[in-house]
Amino acid sequence: MIKVAPSILSADFCKMAEAVKNLELWQADIVHCDIMDGVYVPNITFGMPMVRALRKYTTLPLDAHLMITLPEKYVGEFCDSGADIVTFHPEASKDTRGALDTIKGKGKKCGVAVNADMPLEIALPYFADIDLLVIMTVQAGFGGQSFKEDCLKKAKEADVLRKKHGYGFQIEVDGGVCPQNIGLLKAAGVDIAVAGSAVFKAQDPAEAVKRMQI
Ligand code: DX5
Ligand code: ZN
Repeated sequence: MIKVAPSILSADFCKMAEAVKNLELWQADIVHCDIMDGVYVPNITFGMPMVRALRKYTTLPLDAHLMITLPEKYVGEFCDSGADIVTFHPEASKDTRGALDTIKGKGKKCGVAVNADMPLEIALPYFADIDLLVIMTVQAGFGGQSFKEDCLKKAKEADVLRKKHGYGFQIEVDGGVCPQNIGLLKAAGVDIAVAGSAVFKAQDPAEAVKRMQI
């Protein structure tokens, strides 16, 4: 079954504790936290203090997606703040392997993210070392964009490669995912679906989560 990781980027920022508590009620699987620095992406969201604050309100795994420059400077702190999974974009890093090692050294799951305008090749050198591969189906920076179906080819290709070589990483697809396109993710071999607007802006968020857990 596909696990659903709602992105709190689409929640009401005045009610973040309530948002993560609701995710348990709605039976979501993972909480996706979008961290943006205004440099790697043209938007700024929140950082380690938010992850630390939310940690107290949920037992669900916290998935920190770092869209920041030089993530190697901060991955350790995100782990210490309570993130269970930390992913970042290799082209924003000068020490991808070091950052992955730091996360693993903290006993957390690590991963790399492939932005919509990046080829899968940037992630290939790390396939043996990661727990999670994030394939973005929008250009990182904002919630509520429409799904780029073309990017899903990278997820399919990664699925073929991991089976062929026996890599153990999971594949997460992030951006514009909704109940209408979840079947495409399933067919591509995706394990985790990130969904911001499709959950938090839904009339019945619990139903939206359930419809994507296929
Ligand atoms: C985009 C973020 C995504 C996105 C998900 O930069 O990484 O997690 O906000 O939100 P929707 O599902 O609304 O595209
Ligand atoms: Zn994200």
